[in-house]
Amino acid sequence: MYKERREKVFDFLPMNSIAMFLSGNAPYQVGDEKYPFDVNRSFYYLTGIDRENLVLMLIKTKNNNQTILFIEPFDPVMAKWVGGKIQAHEATEISGISDVRFIDNLDSTINRLLHSTNEQAWTLCGELSKQELKQPWPLADMFNEYKQQYPDVMIKNIFADMARLRMVKSKEEIDNMKKAIAVTNAGIKAMMQASRDYIWENELEAYFDFVLKSEQCKHAFYTICASGKNATVLHYGENNCQSKPGDLVLVDLGAAYGYYNADISRTFPISGKFTARQREVYELVLRANKMVMEKARPGVTLRELNNYVIEFYEKELPSIGLLQDGDTVRDYYFHGVSHHLGLETHDVSILDYPLQAGNVITDEPGLYIEAEDIGIRIEDDIMITEDGCINLSSEIMKEIDEIESFMQNGK
Ligand code: GLY
Ligand code: MN
Ligand code: MN
Repeated sequence: MYKERREKVFDFLPMNSIAMFLSGNAPYQVGDEKYPFDVNRSFYYLTGIDRENLVLMLIKTKNNNQTILFIEPFDPVMAKWVGGKIQAHEATEISGISDVRFIDNLDSTINRLLHSTNEQAWTLCGELSKQELKQPWPLADMFNEYKQQYPDVMIKNIFADMARLRMVKSKEEIDNMKKAIAVTNAGIKAMMQASRDYIWENELEAYFDFVLKSEQCKHAFYTICASGKNATVLHYGENNCQSKPGDLVLVDLGAAYGYYNADISRTFPISGKFTARQREVYELVLRANKMVMEKARPGVTLRELNNYVIEFYEKELPSIGLLQDGDTVRDYYFHGVSHHLGLETHDVSILDYPLQAGNVITDEPGLYIEAEDIGIRIEDDIMITEDGCINLSSEIMKEIDEIESFMQNGK
C-alpha cells in the first residue's frame, strides 16, 4: 500500500528530482519535557512509520526511481532510557523500503547527487508551505541552503500534488475512519448518559476521554464541550464551566484510530429535554445538515455547499424570529459547512477543487444565538460516492426524539 502511494508520487515528480519528506521532531515544551510527538502526515502516508527524525527520499532520474529511508542509529543507552529507535529491519517491514541508511549520511547523499552531472538541473521537491496557512515548513530552510551552494538547483513545492493524492481515500483509510467514528459514537453516548443538571463541562468531557482510552484511540483534536452561552463561541475549549438547568451542551469531538480522524458535533439538552425554542432552532440546523447531504456529490465545491446553507438560512431564519433589524445570516452562522477529513482533522485539500468520489468531508451547519444562550452545531462525516454521498456517521443519533428518549431512558 505504501509502495503504491510512493509510485503515485514518482508519477508527478519532475525528471531529475529529489523529493524529501521529514517525519518531524517534537519540540521542547518546558525544561527537558517535550510535547508529544505527532508524525508529519504525508511522511506517515508514504511509509506507515510514526517515529521522530526520519527522512524519506525519492529520487527520480531518467534511469530509475530510487527510494531511501534515513533512520537514526540504534543507541543502546537511549534504548534503556526511552526505548529503542526503529531498526532497519523493522522500518523495511512496515514501509517496504529496502534501502535504509543512517541519517548521518543524509547530507552527503544529497551533496553527491547535486554534484553529479546531469543533462538537466536537479529539482528539490517537498511540502514547503501549507497554502492556506502560508507558514513555511522546516524543509524550506534546508532547501534554501542547498540552493545557495548549488545555484542551478530548482525548488518545487509539492503540497498541492500531495493534497490531490491524499484527498481521495482508499478502502483501508475509510475503514479506519469508520472505526474512529464508532468509538466517537460510544463516547458521545457515555456523555449523554452521564449528563445531568449542574454537571461541569470537564466532567462530561471525561466520560468521552474514558471511552477513547479504553478503545486504544487518541483524540483527533481538543474536545469542545460547551454549555449554554459557551456554545456560541466557535472554538471554545476551556470546558471548565458548570452547566445550568435548561442549558444545551454542544460537543465537538472525535477519536483518532490509526491516525485517521472522526470529527463529530452533537448538541443535546443537559437535562434530557429540549425546550420548545431549542427544538425549533435545532430542527432548522438539522434540516440544513440533511440538505448538505442531498447536495454533496462529485463536481460540487465546498464553497457551493456553504452557499446552499446560507441561502437556506436566508429563507428560513425569519420563521424563527431571526434576521430582524438588519441582522444577516452571518450573525448567526459564521463558519464554513465543510472541510476535508482524514489523517488531519482539517485535512489537506485544494481550495475550490470539485469533490470527487472517495473524498471524505464534514457536514457541519450550526446556528449561534448569543442573546438566547443557544449554540447548536450538528456535524457528520460523509464520503462522496460516484453519484452522491454516504453518511459515515449515520449511527450517531441526532433526531430530537431519539436523543430525548436515550437520555431519559438510557436507550
Ligand atoms: N472540530 C473542528 C471542526 O469541526 O472543524
Ligand atoms: Mn468538529
Ligand atoms: Mn469539522
